Amino acid sequence: MKTTLSGVEFANPIMTASGCCGYGEELAEIFPLSRLGALVTKSITLEPRLGHPPPRTAETASGMLNAIGLANVGVDAFIRDKMPFLSEQKTGVIVNVAGASVDEYVEVSRRLNNVDDLDMIELNISCPNVDRGGMEFGSDPYLTQKVVAEVKKVFDRPIIVKLSPNVTNICDIARAAEAGGADALTVINSLVGTAVDIETRRPRLTNNKGGLTGPAIKPIALAMVAAVHENCRLPIVGVGGIATWQDVVEFMLCGASAVQIGTALFVEPEAPLKIVSGLKTYLQARNIKSINDLVGRLEKY
Ligand SMILES: Cc1cc2nc3c(=O)[nH]c(=O)nc-3n(C[C@H](O)[C@H](O)[C@H](O)COP(=O)(O)O)c2cc1C
Repeated sequence: MKTTLSGVEFANPIMTASGCCGYGEELAEIFPLSRLGALVTKSITLEPRLGHPPPRTAETASGMLNAIGLANVGVDAFIRDKMPFLSEQKTGVIVNVAGASVDEYVEVSRRLNNVDDLDMIELNISCPNVDRGGMEFGSDPYLTQKVVAEVKKVFDRPIIVKLSPNVTNICDIARAAEAGGADALTVINSLVGTAVDIETRRPRLTNNKGGLTGPAIKPIALAMVAAVHENCRLPIVGVGGIATWQDVVEFMLCGASAVQIGTALFVEPEAPLKIVSGLKTYLQARNIKSINDLVGRLEKY
């Protein structure tokens, strides 16, 4: 089950998705985090952020909507208060970085560069829930290349770039990230969506819109992983609606080298454990020696 991503070895290809288990403390009460390939933190910005007022999540018939608005403790408090706990967990640690300007991405990454026990950073250039930053970088190839290239100058370890599905052609952005020096890509962040309360006639989120996640987005995420795999040479971390080991096999066949579990953690926090054991059984039953042998092995018509 060992997985190598941009030269970094993880115990298995199963990671948590950013924003779906904070900084890991609560999830560690449910199972040892060493059972994960890696924990991906909530997005970290330069200053602490409270995010949007509630309601900032809503359940729909076809998935979950959220507009948390990048609530987080800020990079200095993260390094001081959260990182020591993560360092002890014997799991991969990937810190997700967000910003409202190129300078903010660079400054957060520069401060993280001094932190031990952190394997990679993941640049969130795809958040649909903030006015400035996030998606405006991830929907413009020029800005994508620029932010990645500038962060690359200050951060010595591998950089993953998390792509937005809310674009005309995700492959253009993937190639721009590659040109900027990205080491891997995460595909995909949430899709812009909304839901309306018909009695109050108001949106069900104070931000008026949010990001749709969960099983509803899996077919979209799979198609985007396959498209990026065909058009870009970087390793891919697949995410979007994964809840079972069968979902993981689908993502790996489409080209993902590793995967992240997001919304499923809210439904079934121990889903990653079931997924890891289900994958082991699948590989053994078919005599597949390494999980990497699945990557990109989709037989297309
Ligand atoms: C409540 C919530 C908060 C999220 N916060 C972040 C975040 O801070 N940074 C980020 O890059 N993605 C964030 N995401 C997106 C997830 O990391 C993931 O890309 C998305 O949920 C799709 O995966 P899923 O369908 O398995 O949930 C968030 C998702 C949810 C549901």
